[in-house]
Amino acid sequence: MCGIIGYIGLCPEQNLLNGLKKLEYRGYDSAGMTVRREGRFETYKEVGQVQNLAGTVVYKEEFGIGIAHTRWATHGKISIENTHPHFSVSGEVALVHNGIIENFEELKEKNKDVTYLGQTDSEVVAKMFESLSINSLRKVLKKLVGSYALALLSKEGDYLYFAKNKSPLYIAKGKECAVIASDPSCFSGLCENYYQLDDGDYGKISLKNIVIYNKNHKIVEKTPQKLDFNYLSEDKSGYEHFMIKEIYQSRLALENIIEKYSHSEMKENLSKIKNYNFDRVYLVGCGTAYHAGLIGEHYLRENINIDAYCLVASEFKDSNLLVDNNSLCIFISQSGETADSISALEYCKEKGAKIISITNVEYSTIAKMSDINLPIFAGQERAVASTKAYFAMCAVLFILSNYLKGQNYILPLKTLSHKIDFGNDISLKKLAKTLAVYKNLFFIGRGVDYVTALEASLKLKEITYIFSSALPSGELKHGSLALIDSNLPCLIIATDERQFAKTLNNASEIKSRGGKLILFTSLFVEKDVEENFDYIIKITPLPRDLMPMQIILSLQKLAYFTSLEKGNDPDKPRNLAKSVTVE
Ligand code: F6R
Repeated sequence: MCGIIGYIGLCPEQNLLNGLKKLEYRGYDSAGMTVRREGRFETYKEVGQVQNLAGTVVYKEEFGIGIAHTRWATHGKISIENTHPHFSVSGEVALVHNGIIENFEELKEKNKDVTYLGQTDSEVVAKMFESLSINSLRKVLKKLVGSYALALLSKEGDYLYFAKNKSPLYIAKGKECAVIASDPSCFSGLCENYYQLDDGDYGKISLKNIVIYNKNHKIVEKTPQKLDFNYLSEDKSGYEHFMIKEIYQSRLALENIIEKYSHSEMKENLSKIKNYNFDRVYLVGCGTAYHAGLIGEHYLRENINIDAYCLVASEFKDSNLLVDNNSLCIFISQSGETADSISALEYCKEKGAKIISITNVEYSTIAKMSDINLPIFAGQERAVASTKAYFAMCAVLFILSNYLKGQNYILPLKTLSHKIDFGNDISLKKLAKTLAVYKNLFFIGRGVDYVTALEASLKLKEITYIFSSALPSGELKHGSLALIDSNLPCLIIATDERQFAKTLNNASEIKSRGGKLILFTSLFVEKDVEENFDYIIKITPLPRDLMPMQIILSLQKLAYFTSLEKGNDPDKPRNLAKSVTVE
């Protein structure tokens, strides 16, 4: 993961830091910066979040050139030695890197005389430079196996150098600055247009010009892209955290989806998918996106008479499923940059399958690699835990399955928008206070409610560090019931009338073994049944297909409030990063 930025212009320290803050979602184990002044490097490094670095930097308002990095540790512990930038042996060249150099041990072996300060693969690359020029960059790149977005700076010259392979990298020139970054959001306030680099591209950028070579070492001209200010999320808009702001933005995302999917461009995409010949559908994603895929699997199985299977991306290639030109493979990814999903997508492409993507980032690798992209129009997510994107992914999968069946999708989504229920804060906060003292929790549900249980459990784990496990309600009695006692609360999700009686039986099985019971439901509960539960959270009912979107909002908020109760930062959970670009 990691985020990199390079900057030439006025106030380099402040601008590099502003960029790092925007890239922090890519990792926050440590951060570092090097700025060149009168032929000397000034370097700052701190362990922990970017704000730690911000406190140590000496900010200067004059012109300068520099590079910076925010790290998500892959090779080597979290330490100052492993914090970027790294330097060449002579100290003349500074480098920041995002990605993984797979042959770094081998390269290290070849450079036996060199002393390494840390354990990172990136430092090995830095030590391969004697000086910095297009030729020296080309020579080093030839020896690298793996993924990289690199930004480099030397003690002299007007240029920053860059290279990209399988890690995102963008460059831009404003009126009085030049910028390289892992994410175009860093260009906001500095440049209006930017260039997206392709795998194998490398080159240099100064205030005057940009030179880009492609993988065949030919100079290329790229088409500039306009920065999408509607997509960017610059501040918390008065909310305490991005996570809670983004949960509430689900309604806005839904309104965007209704608007965009009422118009011809998206309808044409849907119609192209309908005209494909396919006899099976695979839905593929990781984490929260995988759970959205499971909801999609339910929608497709109920609506169209076709086999639909949802799989975790990292398991896809090894599952020996039949993938061929009769397969429709739907890749679901908020970032569109998740390495496991990209790898599964490449596999499906090789097998001749049709590739559809459902992403939040229209310029992302997954969106660009697919035959058709169905954007979710949720706007940028800044909190690491995905919320509005999950909601919006489910909405787009709802649209796709309804379209394939020939059913109206706008009216039901409008109903959802009118009756959307973000839950009662007082009840959710009270429940969060209770849950925060427990170490373990079960989430159970049947059918599509089991999928909601999986997503609610993941959200709680990520930001509260409480262990939780999601199970189909009927499975509990096949082993896990052994764990039930007064220290293990069980949260039941019930939105499907057809399953409710059985779910209530499962609740009784838990109750009679002393377990604490919490019910999240949109269904009518008889008075005598209510008494069995320690907590009941009632959710406004809607038609069954819409309930996965309706009920998840309260469960996301429950995780958020519980995280606050535990004194955590819900926006930046430990050990995680938003964009997971390693397999
Ligand atoms: C959970 C979360 C992760 C992501 C997963 C896939 O809150 O954010 O589980 O869902 O890493 O990421 P994308 O959707 O970017 O492919």
